[in-house]
Parts: sequence; C-alpha cells; structure tokens
Amino acid sequence: MAEYSTSPTGEKFRLPAPEDYLREFERLRRLVDDRRARGLEIVVVMGLGFVGAVMAAVVADAQDKHGNPTKFVIGMQRPSTRSYWKIPLINRGISPVSSEDPEVPLMINRCVNEKKTLIATYTFDALKLADVVILDVQCDYVKASLGNVCDGRADMGALEESLEIIGQYISPQTLVLIETTVAPGTTEQVAYPIVKKSFRKRGIEKEPLLAHSFERVMPGRNYVSSIRDFWRVCSGVNEEATQRVVKFLNEVINTEKFPLTVLDRPIESETAKIVENSFRATLLAFMDEWSLFAERNGVDLTKVIAAIKVRPTHSNIMFPGPGIGGYCLPKDGGLGLWAYRHIHGFEDDIFKMTPLAININDTRSLHVAQLTRDALRNMGRPIASAEILLLGASYREDVGDTRYSGSELIVRRLTEMGAELKVHDPYVLHWWEFEKQDEYPGNSHSLRRFFRGQEKLKDLRVEQDLNKALDGIDALILAVRHKHYLDLDPDEIVKNCGGPIAVVDCFGILDDEKIRRYFELGCEVKGLGRGHVKRIKDQVRVKREQILLNISTRKEDGNRGLTSTDLELLNNGHALAVED
Ligand SMILES: NC(=O)c1ccc[n+]([C@@H]2O[C@H](COP(=O)([O-])OP(=O)(O)OC[C@H]3O[C@@H](n4cnc5c(N)ncnc54)[C@H](O)[C@@H]3O)[C@@H](O)[C@H]2O)c1
Repeated sequence: MAEYSTSPTGEKFRLPAPEDYLREFERLRRLVDDRRARGLEIVVVMGLGFVGAVMAAVVADAQDKHGNPTKFVIGMQRPSTRSYWKIPLINRGISPVSSEDPEVPLMINRCVNEKKTLIATYTFDALKLADVVILDVQCDYVKASLGNVCDGRADMGALEESLEIIGQYISPQTLVLIETTVAPGTTEQVAYPIVKKSFRKRGIEKEPLLAHSFERVMPGRNYVSSIRDFWRVCSGVNEEATQRVVKFLNEVINTEKFPLTVLDRPIESETAKIVENSFRATLLAFMDEWSLFAERNGVDLTKVIAAIKVRPTHSNIMFPGPGIGGYCLPKDGGLGLWAYRHIHGFEDDIFKMTPLAININDTRSLHVAQLTRDALRNMGRPIASAEILLLGASYREDVGDTRYSGSELIVRRLTEMGAELKVHDPYVLHWWEFEKQDEYPGNSHSLRRFFRGQEKLKDLRVEQDLNKALDGIDALILAVRHKHYLDLDPDEIVKNCGGPIAVVDCFGILDDEKIRRYFELGCEVKGLGRGHVKRIKDQVRVKREQILLNISTRKEDGNRGLTSTDLELLNNGHALAVED
C-alpha cells in the first residue's frame, strides 16, 4: 500500500516507491553536470528542518563579486511520512517552514524558480555528487523526568545514522560541515570514527574532512539574517578541513561584516555553542527566584529589571516568561553534561549551575497554573471545569514556533487540574504538540508523558478569532508577548467575555493602568513577578469604600454625582472583597 506524507495545509504526497529512486538520481545527475559545467560548487544540505531549509536557501543565494551564483544546493530529507512533504514543496519554490521573515519565502522561491540553484530530494545518492555536505539533522536530549535534566540522555540516533550514510556515499574530497548542536566531542570522537570506518570499508585511505560550525539562527523576523549576517565560529578536524570550512563560510556568509572565529579543534566550537546557550538559560533561571520574591513582597519585577537595565554592564538582564522554551535552551546544557560522562568518560559531578538552570526553566510554567487557580479561587470559582483561554502558544513573541514552549506546560498542567482549555495564537495554525501528541515530537518526546488526563488535548485547536475565543471564559492567561496582545483593552476584553474574569499576566504585558482597570471591572489579576498587583487591588478597594462612605453620609443624594466608574466599582465590589 502506498504511504503518504501530509503537509501542514493538508496536502497529501505519495512517498516515493523503490522504482522512483533511479529516475530521481538521474534527474539530479543531469542538473549537477549542468551546474558544474557553469562552475558552481555542489552542496548537499542534509535535514530540511528549521535550520537546514533556510541554510540551504542562504547557500543557494550566494554569489560572487559579479553577482553570479557560486553554489548549487540539493536539500536532502528522509522520505518519512512526517517530513517527506517538505521535498515537493521546496521543489515548487515554497518554504517548508512558516516564518515571520518575508525574506524566507522570497529567497526560496528566487533560488528554486529564478536562479535555479536550489532543489530538494529524498535520495541519499545525492551525497555522491557533493563537494560539500552540511549536516543539519537534529540531535535531541531525552529527559526521563520533568525538572531533572540529569535523568536523561543524548539521542544521537538521527545524527549517527546520517553520518553512517555520509561515510558510505561521499567522495573522499567532500567537506562535511556539521552544523547540528552536538554533545562536545562528537565531531572528533563520534563522527570521525564513523566516517573513517566507512571509508576503510570502501578502501579509502584519505582522512575524512570534517568540520563543525554551529548555527545561531533565530526563527523569527530576522530568520535569514540570523544565518547569513551573523558571527560564526568554526573548526576542522585537521588543517585541510579547517581551510576548507573557512573558505566555504567566507563564500556563503557575510563574514566581511561579521568576521569568523576559527578555533583550534571542533570540541571548542561545539563547547562554544553549549556554553552560549547554557549562559542564557542560567541568566533566565536566575530570575525565577526573584520573580517569586517579587510576587510575595509587593514588588513589580518588570520595573526592577527596567531600573537595572539602564546600567550598561547589566543590559542583558531579562524577565523570564512562563518557562524557557524553544528547541535549544532546554536541551543544550544536557548535551554538555552527557558528553562529560559518556563521551569523555568522567565519573565526577562537576556540573551544578547548568542542570539547575535547566531544571528551574523546565518547571517555571507550572507556577502559572497555581496563579490561575488562586485567581479563580479569589473569585469563588473552582479551577476544575473552569474555562480558560491561553493567549500565545509559541515559545517567544511574534514567531510561530511552539517547540517546548512554556505555554504547552501551562495547558498540560491546567488540564490535569480539570480545567477546560482554549488557545489563541495568530502565528500558529496547528499546535502539533497536542493535535499529534502520540507521534510529535518523535521518539516519545512528548511532554504528555509527565502529566495525566491528556488524551482530550488531541482535540485542542488554535482559535484565530480572539473575540469568539473570549466568549464565556472564566480566566485569561497572557502567556506570550505577541504584538497582538500588548494593547488589549480591559473594557473590550471583559465585554467580550460577558463579565469579570481572572487575568494572569505571565510576561509583564499589563501596565498598572490596565491592571487597575481590570480590578475596577471586577476582575482578579495575578502575574508572574508582579507582586504589586495586590497594592493596586487595595487602592481600588479603598476607593470603593470611600464611595460607599460618601453615599452613606449624604443619604439624601442617593447615587447622584457618582461617575460611571464609581458605579461600576460599587457593582463589582464582590471580587475586591475577597482577600488573597
Ligand atoms: N531551530 C533553532 O532555532 C536552532 C537554532 C540554533 C541551532 N539549532 C540546531 O540545529 C540543528 C537542527 O535543528 P532544526 O531546528 O533544524 O531541527 P528539525 O528537527 O527542524 O530538523 C531536522 C531535520 O532533519 C531531518 N533528518 C533527520 N535524519 C535525517 C537523515 N538521516 N537524512 C536526512 N534528513 C534527516 C528531519 O526529518 C528534520 O526535517 C539542531 O542541532 C539544533 O539544536 C536549531
């Protein structure tokens, strides 16, 4: 029976049959012969995910001083039911990754349909034709429990499989550039032996030309420039590999403006990536305890951070949202710990800060569920069966990437507590982590495994109409700083909800004026790191009491002379009456 791969928009593509492979290779060979004759170098990018698809286009778009293309790129992707659809889409000139950067679709279309420097394929035979192979497959870190990164392991399956295939197919002169974020030591101690062994089996004596240069890509508004116009670090396993990788990167990346850093050994490039991301994860985790301190002592952490940030030495202090997601920060430190023990063979426990930071970040969003429960409780509504709307599914503002987002954990935890969840995100059409939670992300990586009662979340759909989504909810969680959520008007929100609700601000989205207005409208407000909301609530309560006092001392006037806000305050007094 033919198997199919379905694109995110629902288009079905039949997976290639055995007899298709020969024809596909002939197609590639003809194209490569033609491009080589025109002086183009042949580059195969293995793995067309978030990084590989756009890197492939950046390389295909490279040109010499006269504006002529210098590379012909073959993007290669396993023909799995999950990913095969990317190949026919790219071959039409359509980007397989959705992006807020308009340059992504333009560049892919330009390279495929105008410059004819980019195609995609499913056959590993493409590797035989490559001068350079760029490896952009995933290298995951699998956690066995939530909040303990030490209880886990690196999943090198896709990487090792790719390297075995590379060793079997490439010519000895091919440069293999590993861009995947790997456990430090991988290029020399895992990749090199795998490729060397395959070479030996093929009777090739030459040393494999392997190099490492990690990606710093940010899939958002500056997706393309975060690859092309950004600083790179690289290193080769030997002199020849280093020279080749430096030459290649100089030809495809804007190294004139963003100079290359060449390190002595690949383990240094690999370590740079892990330290870079562990540093950021630690900065964010550090603020978690101060966020709790702020909540419990009437402090607004957003104002504290703004006050500190003016000092140039502290300008990278950050407000941690509801959990630190994205593909890289939750896992990269884990790859470091794992490498120390399992690649380099050390038994002692030198890592303290890195795992602690990841553990704090991995569980921070659970606190949002507690705040939501408390806010609802203050309004006399139980969390069980409360209808809650979450604004924002992605891991950071103004992108559609939901990988390991704090929002996912908020949904899972609140569902476990019996709440009914709705979600809105203007950048996300399908939240695959729920819709396909049995198979996505692969290899049982779904965070579902840490929670009970998750079955019904397969039916969770991302609402696109905010006003419709607001109708009838008990609580609203502002989870992501998407631009659409920064200026929401409390009056409009409450009107669309049909009455007062609990509002939980996870990302310093509400200013004091809006917080005050929500209280005046009878809502309850809580926020991560926003201890001062209690003070605003008290001010509103005092104001209401003053109005009541005035009325009782001027009985004959009745309600005359009261503003509409005063009247609202009187009507909505029940919410303010509840103590925290
Ligand atoms: N996404 C980011 O923001 C980001 C940023 C910096 C670095 N990185 C690193 O870049 C690497 C790739 O990340 P990604 O986000 O592109 O991952 P991804 O999961 O989106 O893409 C990996 C792709 O490789 C394909 N693949 C796996 N095995 C293959 C094989 N044998 N042959 C061909 N294709 C194969 C998969 O099907 C998938 O399409 C990771 O190491 C990641 O840590 C990612």
